[in-house]
Amino acid sequence: MDTKALNDGMPKTTFPLTPQSTLGALLAIVRNPLDALPPSIFTEPVVFSKTAGELKVYLADPVLIHEALVKNADTLGKGDQVRRALGPALGQGLLTADGSHWKWQRQSVAGAFRHDKLLELQPTMIAVAQRTRDRWIGMGNRTIDVGHEMMRTTFDIIVETMMSGGHGIDVERVEKGISDFLKPTGWTFALGLLRAPEWIPYPGRGKAEAAVEFLRSSLLSVIETRRKHPDDRHDLVNMLLSAADPETGRTMSDAEIVDNLMTFITAGHETTALGLTWTYDLLARHPEIEAKVLAEIDAVTESQPVSAEHVSKLVYTRQAFSEAMRLYPPAPIITRTALRDFQLGDYLIPTGTVLIVPIYAVHHHTSLWADPEVFDPDRFSPESAKARHRYTYMPFGAGPRVCIGNAFAVMEAVAILAVLLQKVRLAATEPHPAKPIMKVTLRPDRAQRMNLTLR
Ligand code: HEM
Repeated sequence: MDTKALNDGMPKTTFPLTPQSTLGALLAIVRNPLDALPPSIFTEPVVFSKTAGELKVYLADPVLIHEALVKNADTLGKGDQVRRALGPALGQGLLTADGSHWKWQRQSVAGAFRHDKLLELQPTMIAVAQRTRDRWIGMGNRTIDVGHEMMRTTFDIIVETMMSGGHGIDVERVEKGISDFLKPTGWTFALGLLRAPEWIPYPGRGKAEAAVEFLRSSLLSVIETRRKHPDDRHDLVNMLLSAADPETGRTMSDAEIVDNLMTFITAGHETTALGLTWTYDLLARHPEIEAKVLAEIDAVTESQPVSAEHVSKLVYTRQAFSEAMRLYPPAPIITRTALRDFQLGDYLIPTGTVLIVPIYAVHHHTSLWADPEVFDPDRFSPESAKARHRYTYMPFGAGPRVCIGNAFAVMEAVAILAVLLQKVRLAATEPHPAKPIMKVTLRPDRAQRMNLTLR
């Protein structure tokens, strides 16, 4: 792709707009924001459009993505749409904050994600996956909702690793609460685009608000208990309780700690569970690839219980998970708003412009991938990966706002795949794959039910 050929050296300030009907775009956003992406962004490097008078720039060129998310990271904020959609639940936590408030929060929790710390957490990840596997073995051959099963597993992992245990949190209610909160996010995005007042009612709003209240109050009681009975565990709760802004010395209020626990619980379990759910479906539909994954797991583990050493050796299994996240990136679109005018490639992007990095479109782009719709884990062999531009593949985002849990997620996913597939096989129950629908994360449009058989 060539977006570099500058005409006269002066940045362009008029944009070749791709026509997009505002009403059509809004309806599509409510239904499924992926359907609101301009179709040309799957074949072109950059697309400009205007919806409700707002300039939007869609970026699929890895060079421009690097320029925006990495080189100009300080020029971009998360923007009003993210705040409107996620603010009620996540407040000003790590995912939604900007500037110095973001920075000190990121520094405060970075220690929880260092490689040596993750290695300490790995036995817990394996133990939780073993509980799921034992429950499945107890059920015998039957049909299961694999999406629900993965949510439950990754939820237990996040609570046990980051919060040192369940603290009596009601897993089923939390899972439902998160779903209820995410369901109407299409409306919050669309109304944000129209700059409609924030009090405006929309379908599902009442349920979403009740869910947020339940989730936040459950976490508040975790913090109150910890304040009453302090301990010296090195978990996320204690890190947040002791965090202090290096510039001002201020510590986090209970509400700010809840913002972050909400952020880590939602960002940290849903995404990995969805990545795994899509992986099982793809494996079931590609028996030759499934056979290679199963053979690798068998060869590496030699019928022994899965251990941390095994997980790092499961190279092809990791490639299969990476390739599933290419086809179905759990976080399919990221957005930013320009806080100042800045130059991007040939263009001078004005303040207030919304930049959209449609990870889903980048991962399916016809100029970036050969046969983009084909599931092929060999794309992630070290040689193939080296031959590509780094930002051709970015399930975890890019730049300083890259997913802090990225290594955690991959380690966790490979451990879960190994523990489960060592003992079971999952087969699709429907002839065609589910359609991916974006509700902040990329969910299947129907329950992912699969036939479980013991190996
Ligand atoms: C397969 C699993 C995951 C995927 C695909 C994923 C994806 C992403 C993406 C794309 C972003 C960047 C968003 C943006 O730039 O606007 C992000 C940020 C974030 N993720 Fe993840 N994530 C995953 C797992 C996790 C886990 C396991 C955790 C925590 C344990 C986590 C916590 C976060 C947090 C806190 C942020 C905000 C970071 C910041 O802005 O500094 N994620 N994630």
